[in-house]
Amino acid sequence: SNQFCDAGIGYRESTCGISPSSSSSKLLIKGGTVVNAHQQEIADVYVEDGVIVAVKPNIKVGDDVTLLDATGKYIMPGGIDPHTHLAMEFMGTETIDDFFSGQAAALAGGTTMHIDFVIPVNGSLVAGFEAYERKAKKSCMDYGFHMAITKWDESVSREMEIMVNEKGINSFKFFMAYKGSLMINDELLLQGLKRCKSLGALAMVHAENGDAVFEGQKRMIELGITGPEGHALSRPAVLEGEATARAIRLARFVNTPLYVVHVMSIDAMEEIAKARKSGQKVIGEPVVSGLVLDDSGLWDPDFITAAKYVMSPPIRESGHDKALQAALSTGVLQLVGTDHCVFNSTQKAFGIDDFRKIPNGVNGIEERMHLVWDTMVESGQISVTDYVRITSTECARIFNLYPRKGAILAGSDADIIIFNPNSSFEIRASSHHSRTDTNVFDGRKGKGKVEVTIAGGRVVWQDDELKVVPGSGKYIEMPPFSYLFNGIDKADAKYLSSLQAPVGRFNSAS
Ligand code: URP
Ligand code: ZN
Ligand code: ZN
Ligand code: ZN
Repeated sequence: SNQFCDAGIGYRESTCGISPSSSSSKLLIKGGTVVNAHQQEIADVYVEDGVIVAVKPNIKVGDDVTLLDATGKYIMPGGIDPHTHLAMEFMGTETIDDFFSGQAAALAGGTTMHIDFVIPVNGSLVAGFEAYERKAKKSCMDYGFHMAITKWDESVSREMEIMVNEKGINSFKFFMAYKGSLMINDELLLQGLKRCKSLGALAMVHAENGDAVFEGQKRMIELGITGPEGHALSRPAVLEGEATARAIRLARFVNTPLYVVHVMSIDAMEEIAKARKSGQKVIGEPVVSGLVLDDSGLWDPDFITAAKYVMSPPIRESGHDKALQAALSTGVLQLVGTDHCVFNSTQKAFGIDDFRKIPNGVNGIEERMHLVWDTMVESGQISVTDYVRITSTECARIFNLYPRKGAILAGSDADIIIFNPNSSFEIRASSHHSRTDTNVFDGRKGKGKVEVTIAGGRVVWQDDELKVVPGSGKYIEMPPFSYLFNGIDKADAKYLSSLQAPVGRFNSAS
């Protein structure tokens, strides 16, 4: 139902809380199969004060403990969505899910943490961070921040250090597209990559050639193609492949790890595959829309229906989806995000006469866990342990949160889902928990269901009811120098020593 607790339709945030009887600070989940990325076993899970205390068979507890029966079900780490845009000002408007509604939707779908992108204010990272701190005050689940870099000068470089060393940010996103707003050039990207490397922060790229996209858009408008299909036609996969290749090569030149967000095409995926094969540390993140949809929706004769599919890079022709799934199942791509960035029909209608004005973005924060299960596990492409890896554990490792997040282990945060593989899900715009009025996955059904979500040790989703508390979510600081930085210094030393020979040829040693 489209309801928070029993408060009725809409957002009765102040009336929405946990009734004392429905929750205690002690929980025992009995009889399920505990799944981690490295193994699965039948065990009980005991939780106290938001932390997992024990994972083993036949745990005995007193009667002050809330019992949850998970017999025949999987007990898994809550999902971590590495890519969301809640309450983001973008394309002249603001995404309609904020840090409460977007997170409530996430929890209803089994995701218990997300990492959102802070956009600087007038180029100031500190001001941007403070603005997002305010937006996130109403959070009902844990969250972290990436930071976008949209211009370059001494102060940005200094502020990056403040973000990493004082504010808990360990990743920076560079937009190679959105000419005239967020786009950066190669010179900035190079400076940014160098700075990221020195700080132990992960560089992330939105990889599309923004200058060529701008040309492509002009081309479409000149041809009289102004509808949503013009969006896809103006920025073909070759432009995503080009920018992905360029970012990868620049990261190789600097020798720093690279994370490619929203990999939407075979073209981009193959560049990542090639780089990884050569030993380069490149991470590729497909998003749910790219894994399960094709571009046919963009051609729908109804503008609002077509416009809801507009995101960048675009959802591609049929075939890219299956190739991205295969890449995910074989480890060429490592984790799944959503790029949840929702605008309602009124906002999408800003572009009724010109696709360039349709706010870019689709939903997914609530649907990711179900759709990845159905598309990847039910189809036989990956194991249940791999499911945990690509929806939670690998994200925790990349952003240096493991094993606090991404694991069902003693000492980990109690962010847990109980998943019933024998039940089923159905996605409806009319019943989803996002504030938007459309859903790009509307009508999809599949096997498996998140029956219980536990966030920070509290049962927040059970019996199709949300019990969420604004302000209960915590900001999670992410330390720099994740595992991706292991060995970077050794490779640099080797490179420098290889330069000794050319140095000696013409420069006298003394
Ligand atoms: O269309 C999209 N992807 N909107 C969100 C901003 C971005 O590029 O991630
Ligand atoms: Zn309520
Ligand atoms: Zn992007
Ligand atoms: Zn995004």
